[in-house]
Amino acid sequence: MKLMQSLVDWVDVRLGVRQIWIANSSDYLVPRNINKWYSLGTVLLVLFGLQFVTGILLLIHYVPDVEKAFASVERIVNVVPFGWLIRSLHAVGSNLIVVVLLLHMLSVLFMGSYKRPRELTWLSGFGLFNLGLILCLTGYLLPWSQLSFWATTVATDAAGALPVIGAELVEFLRGAPSVGPQTLGRFFALHVVVLPFALVGLIGFHLFCVRRNGISTPPFGPDARPAKVGGFFEHEKNPGGIPFFPNYTLEEMGVVCFFLALLVAVTFFAPQIFVPYSALEPADPFTTPEHIKPEWYFLWAYQTLKIFPSKLMGLVVQIGLMTFLALLPFIDRGAERRPIKRPIFVTVYVLILLVMIGLSIWGHYS
Ligand code: HEM
Repeated sequence: MKLMQSLVDWVDVRLGVRQIWIANSSDYLVPRNINKWYSLGTVLLVLFGLQFVTGILLLIHYVPDVEKAFASVERIVNVVPFGWLIRSLHAVGSNLIVVVLLLHMLSVLFMGSYKRPRELTWLSGFGLFNLGLILCLTGYLLPWSQLSFWATTVATDAAGALPVIGAELVEFLRGAPSVGPQTLGRFFALHVVVLPFALVGLIGFHLFCVRRNGISTPPFGPDARPAKVGGFFEHEKNPGGIPFFPNYTLEEMGVVCFFLALLVAVTFFAPQIFVPYSALEPADPFTTPEHIKPEWYFLWAYQTLKIFPSKLMGLVVQIGLMTFLALLPFIDRGAERRPIKRPIFVTVYVLILLVMIGLSIWGHYS
């Protein structure tokens, strides 16, 4: 302990680390009426951290070769000590991350925290959301099962609906006219190197934005007011708030533990939810399974492509919706954040949410 103290003293004299620590812990105040939804960002950090650890452990035994990939995953699950646990944690964890990403995004939307001056926080978050989904998509192919192979075939096929560049884009994504060794190679590189690096960089920027702006005051209760929108940079100070560390961090740990408990419960008692039968058969490019469905979070998009008279129309609707979401802070520019004072926004929000859920259920049973 004394040695540790001396070490910190030594570094402190040179870099003033104690000052940085105090400014970012006990002196960094978060709103007194902060709610549980604000902990979801931290839950995401913890879950992504866990994905990195389990992913690296899986990499020790996984072989990115179409002849060997499926057998290497079988070996991880059946032979490698605790391999089944690591693999299930990684697969269930990826699904949980999508759930928490959606909840984080929905809560930020509902509380109007995307508004000025937090446009860059929103844009970086939106980028993270897409990176997260692409990470899931690329990881899905790696076990080289029937499910991976055909789900990737269908997903990459969708790009073909774009006029002019469609066919070339599909070939670019796959690295060949159809899903094969080239696709596995590029998806592997994306999944284990390119996307994780990009994700870490973007998370860094996102947290920088969050810290620079200060945590927004929840728009509820008698004291809630529209956001102050000035012409100059101003850190939202939250006077009279609670210290970020240890008080708020300890509160957050409750929410983090809840999600970790959920992860462990599904991993131990119901991992089969995310491993259907077709995931247990090796990929066979010559036998198309009867029903190929994407993961639950892509079902709405899958169903949209089916209900419009042409795939192109479906694709345009999807791209339109995503562009609208990305640019929302620049479209919805009013300072009002209280949901009760934003009836049109809340109605559209609930309607879009219900349509997305409806489309996903329809896609699942169709
Ligand atoms: C890897 C994924 C992500 C991580 C690790 C992350 C992390 C965080 C953290 C730690 C906070 C501060 C506390 C909180 O409000 O939760 C935060 C706030 C915020 N995040 Fe994220 N986030 C991620 C994805 C997203 C996404 C997908 C969006 C929206 C598209 C988003 C938009 C925001 C906004 C606008 C805030 C400011 C909230 C406020 O000050 O009230 N984030 N994020």
